[in-house]
Amino acid sequence: MAESEAFVRFEGVVAGYGGGDVLKGVSFDVPKGGVTCIVGPNGSGKSTLLKTVSGLVRPRLGEIWFKGQQLVGLSPRDILQLGVVQVPQNHSLFREMTVHENVELGAFLVKDKKLIAQRMERIRGLFPIVAERAKDKAGSLSGGQQRLVEFARCLMLDPELVVLDEPSMGLDPKTLRSMFETIKLMNNAGRTVLLVEQNARQALKLSHFGVVLENGQVRLSGSGSDVLNNPEIGALYLGGTIETKTSN
Ligand SMILES: Nc1ncnc2c1ncn2[C@@H]1O[C@H](COP(=O)(O)OP(=O)(O)OP(=O)(O)O)[C@@H](O)[C@H]1O
Ligand SMILES: [Mg+2]
Repeated sequence: MAESEAFVRFEGVVAGYGGGDVLKGVSFDVPKGGVTCIVGPNGSGKSTLLKTVSGLVRPRLGEIWFKGQQLVGLSPRDILQLGVVQVPQNHSLFREMTVHENVELGAFLVKDKKLIAQRMERIRGLFPIVAERAKDKAGSLSGGQQRLVEFARCLMLDPELVVLDEPSMGLDPKTLRSMFETIKLMNNAGRTVLLVEQNARQALKLSHFGVVLENGQVRLSGSGSDVLNNPEIGALYLGGTIETKTSN
C-alpha cells in the first residue's frame, strides 16, 4: 500500500456470515488521534464492520490497514497485541467476578506485574468507580457503571485504537452524558477512537469524523459537523433510508 497518514484504512471491504454479503465494498480512513463515529440504520452492517477490525469476522475481499500493517488474516489475539481493543455492543463483564478482577483481566496479554499495577493505578484515577466498587461483583453495578468498567478494562492493554460498539446502549440520559465525556477523556489521553452510535446527534457532535453506513456501503463521510448538518441524514437518524423518506 502507498504509505499514508491514515491510521486505519478500509479498502473495499466485503464481508458477511455465509448467507450473502453484509458489507459490500466499504472504504474509508480513520485519522490518527481523533474520534471517528459510524452511524446508520439497524442492520446496515456497523457491528460487522467493527468485527472485521478486531478479527472476529474475516472479510471475503478487501483490506484493512492499521498503521501500515494488514489486519486481514490476523487472529483476534494478534490484533489485540497490536494495540486494537474493542468493547462489544452487549455487556461483557463477568458478573460473578469483582470489578477489580474484571479490570485486571483486561491485561491478560501483559506479563509484567509491575506494569499491570501501574496501569491499574492510573485507571483507578481515571475511572473512580473502579476504586470505589473494586470489591463488588460486576453484576451488582448498573448498566452505565458496567459500561465504564468495560472502558477501564480495555485500557489495561494501553491500546492505540479503542473500538466501541454502541457504548450508550441502555443508558439513561445522565449516564449517557458522562459516558460521552469519558470517550472524550480517553481520546484526550491520546487514543484514537472508532465508535458506532445510535445516538447519532450527540456522538457526531464530539466526533472529528463521521461515516454513514447504509446497507453495507458508505453513504457519506466527512467531518463530524458535515455529517451532522447534511440535510439527507435526518432520515437515517430515524432509522429509515433516504429513499423512503422522499417517497411521500
Ligand atoms: N452472527 C451472524 N450471523 C448471521 N447474520 C448476522 C450475524 N450478525 C449479524 N448478522 C446480519 O448481518 C446484518 C448486519 O448486522 P450488523 O449487526 O452488522 O448490523 P448493525 O448495523 O450493527 O445493526 P444494529 O444497529 O442493530 O446493531 C443483519 O442483517 C444481521 O442480521
Ligand atoms: Mg450493531
